[in-house]
Amino acid sequence: MRRLRILLFAAMLAGAGRYEANGPESEAFTQPIEGLDANHAASFRKGSGIFRQAWLIGPSQDHPDFVGLGPLYNRLSCVACHVKNGRGAAPDSENGVARTMAARLSVEGRDAHGGPRPHPHYGFQLNPEGVPGVAGEGQALVDYAEFDETLADGETITLRRPKLSFRSLAFGPLGPESKTSLRNAPPVFGLGLLESVSDAEILAGKGRPNFVFSVEAGQRTLGRFGLKANQPNLKQQIANAFAEDIGVTSSLFPAENCPPIQRECRRGASTPELTDVQLDAVVDYIRAIAPPARRNLDDPRVKDGDVLFHEIGCSDCHRDALHVADFSLQPALNGVEIHPYTDLLLHDMGEGLADGREDFEAGPRDWRTPPLWGLGLAGKGGDGADFLHDGRARTPVEAILWHGGEAQSSADAFRNLPEPQRQALLAFLNSL
Ligand code: HEC
Ligand code: HEC
Repeated sequence: MRRLRILLFAAMLAGAGRYEANGPESEAFTQPIEGLDANHAASFRKGSGIFRQAWLIGPSQDHPDFVGLGPLYNRLSCVACHVKNGRGAAPDSENGVARTMAARLSVEGRDAHGGPRPHPHYGFQLNPEGVPGVAGEGQALVDYAEFDETLADGETITLRRPKLSFRSLAFGPLGPESKTSLRNAPPVFGLGLLESVSDAEILAGKGRPNFVFSVEAGQRTLGRFGLKANQPNLKQQIANAFAEDIGVTSSLFPAENCPPIQRECRRGASTPELTDVQLDAVVDYIRAIAPPARRNLDDPRVKDGDVLFHEIGCSDCHRDALHVADFSLQPALNGVEIHPYTDLLLHDMGEGLADGREDFEAGPRDWRTPPLWGLGLAGKGGDGADFLHDGRARTPVEAILWHGGEAQSSADAFRNLPEPQRQALLAFLNSL
């Protein structure tokens, strides 16, 4: 009896600290964290609906709450880029249009808050679409040059180097002094847990922090979201996505993003189109999406791969343990150890991955270590399975071989592993 009670108690504790979700593979990234209270469960459903909603120009009798698209936009909904809450897919054809990506733009210098200076005619980001009467700004195209790399034991891997170009630019060429950054939509699960990690724990990592401008706090704050850690928190990241990607304004970003030259665009309405209740629901939704549980933990190759991942330095940046400090959506998780495989910090990844564009304190070769949880399930739900900031890597192996700069020695150690050990490391990545 006593033993049973101890066992039950242990099971309860284990359940209480559970932050990963099990779901069918095709829904691996859409599950809520267990045990949300009724309010948060309701806002999860509401936020999920808004994330999936195709926005309308308006007025609309059927969907009066979802009008405000544009005047300029990239896509009609969030989920069009964050497919099944996973990543977007890179174009693979010759001169394919980058549909699930944002082409960030800027010119030399900084804005009033230390961020990139927007392009005078195109703003912070190229918006390919405009509502009727407003010209879309143009399209970002990707073309690839393939080349082979041979590993130490003779295996050959084909890599593709993307080349970004632009077509149908409505307000003239970007100009030689402009800077561009092509970014593929990253997965959006597990982010609430990452938001809850304390600044101190992040700053104890080996990478460099980005400090960015928090609109709400009106001051410099540690950056954690965005591919260069260029956003301070989920609320700002999400409100910014509504403004830049869909053209939907909010109390945080009340102005439509229309550079002075774009007169038709500037005639568009600019009252907040997203209510605070809607914004909070999407923020709560994103916060509550669980990362998927790991698989094949007992496979000996997975165990060997785990050891190798640490031995060859991958875990220096892809940190395997962080802690939930304060997670208001599910306080039972406070203090729990999570395994996102990121340090949320910036690293110089070398010239091969450089976009040449600064983003607050992030330099032209810097990227935030992306979380690796859920990596093995990428593409299983119809989401994209292309890796790295611009989706150039078609497999995790290609992603590793692109690692340069601070990660060069780690990638070289991978190149020199005998084939069975390389397979073990990949089996480990596939179990995440
Ligand atoms: C045109 C494609 C596109 C659309 C549409 C889009 N996103 Fe994104 N999203 C991106 C890209 C690209 C990034 C990386 C941005 C960066 O590095 O600054 C991103 C980043 C994010 C992140 C941060 C992820 C991380 O790991 O840091 C969140 C959260 C997010 N988007 C939510 C949304 C929401 C909510 C919407 C709808 C309002 C939306 N996105 C619409 C492309 C898109
Ligand atoms: C110096 C820090 C560092 C080290 C060491 C490192 N990485 Fe990375 N890793 C990164 C950064 C930063 C990126 C994102 C680069 C980009 O998007 O251009 C990345 C991207 C990746 C990706 C693609 C993830 C995605 O979602 O697109 C994989 C897979 C990966 N790393 C695995 C590894 C493995 C395996 C090792 C060890 C052989 C390793 N990394 C070593 C920093 C590092």
